[in-house]
Amino acid sequence: MSLPVNTPPVVITRQIPEPGLELLRSAGVRASILETEEDRGPTTEAVGRAVPGCRVLLSLLTEPVDRALLETGSQLLGVSQMAVGVDNVDVAAATELGIPVGNTPGVLTDTTADLTWALLLAAARLIPQAHAYQVAGRYRIWGPNLFTGMDVSPGGSGRPKVLGIVGFGRIGQAVARRAAGFEMDVVAFTPRSRHRIESTPGVRWTTLDELLEESDFVSLHVPLTEETHHLIGQEELLRMKPTAILVNTARGPVVNEEVLVRALAEGWIAGAGLDVYEEEPAMAPGLADLPNVVLLPHIGSASQDTRGRMAEMAARNALAFLEGERGPTTVNPQVYETTAYLERLDRILGG
Ligand code: NAP
Ligand code: GLV
Repeated sequence: MSLPVNTPPVVITRQIPEPGLELLRSAGVRASILETEEDRGPTTEAVGRAVPGCRVLLSLLTEPVDRALLETGSQLLGVSQMAVGVDNVDVAAATELGIPVGNTPGVLTDTTADLTWALLLAAARLIPQAHAYQVAGRYRIWGPNLFTGMDVSPGGSGRPKVLGIVGFGRIGQAVARRAAGFEMDVVAFTPRSRHRIESTPGVRWTTLDELLEESDFVSLHVPLTEETHHLIGQEELLRMKPTAILVNTARGPVVNEEVLVRALAEGWIAGAGLDVYEEEPAMAPGLADLPNVVLLPHIGSASQDTRGRMAEMAARNALAFLEGERGPTTVNPQVYETTAYLERLDRILGG
């Protein structure tokens, strides 16, 4: 069944970096962008109007792609998300409906691991607080107690610090590799792939409870799923050392943010570095007023090169879906074997 002449086959929810658009253009594929202003997303209505007529939806992590929306996509050959995390997409519903979902893994691993370290160091050494003090002209004289933070390397205590990594996938492993330069002891937890941790030199597997109790720094690298929602709540924060710092560059709802505010205010833990929030872009009441947090606006993968490559990967998935081919990076590859997918392909592309 062909599309109405004026319907672009690819609908992109928001402006993506030029390399992705260029790839679509050079393949002769028309695409429409629903929202081109950088500081806002398309309305739910605009996405709802666009999906029934398009063949590929190229989404960002800011747009919910739920079952109801997917069900309206009678012409959809795939959803291509420009992000590695796809928690905004109902992947189970997509699979049931025969719709492949693409993402952009790997290319952003180093950039996100670097940002994780930037947050960890900034929180430990009070960098934003010291910067604000300096630019306000408050620096009068060097002092032995001026912004004394916490060591990340053994430092003055001579004791190697313990880094606890929750979720030992691509980014978790990249964060662990960087710890060697700080002579840290690295412990990690992941429920299913314990062998991966045990076969990594210099990294020790622990239970989550042990990790929380032992670590000076706890860094989260799990996807957001039902299992990881509020993985870190009251019990877990109370288990951490009062001197420990929590870093979250995974997804906001992995941490119970309201409880985290209490933990930081009441000294259950020493500090936090956050790139992501439970109700993004909003923050839990009180979070931004705390003196012991470093807060970033979800910029884990934000380097120019990496964002360009992510856009290209998303465009490559979109082009493959348009042709009825397997996307190079599909989060639900089992969909390709389903009757729902084969029937969808047959109905839309005619066999
Ligand atoms: P990945 O390679 O799939 O790694 C995720 C790891 O989490 C897997 O090894 C998985 O282990 C583990 N895991 C799953 N459930 C867990 C649980 N309950 N407890 C502990 N570990 C668990 O993904 P990635 O590429 O590293 O990305 C991780 C996440 O980072 C993404 O899903 C995304 O949400 C986030 N992210 C954020 C930014 C940012 O801008 N801040 C940038 C990129 C990614 P098993 O194999 O045992 O299941
Ligand atoms: C960013 O948060 C991603 O999941 O790619």
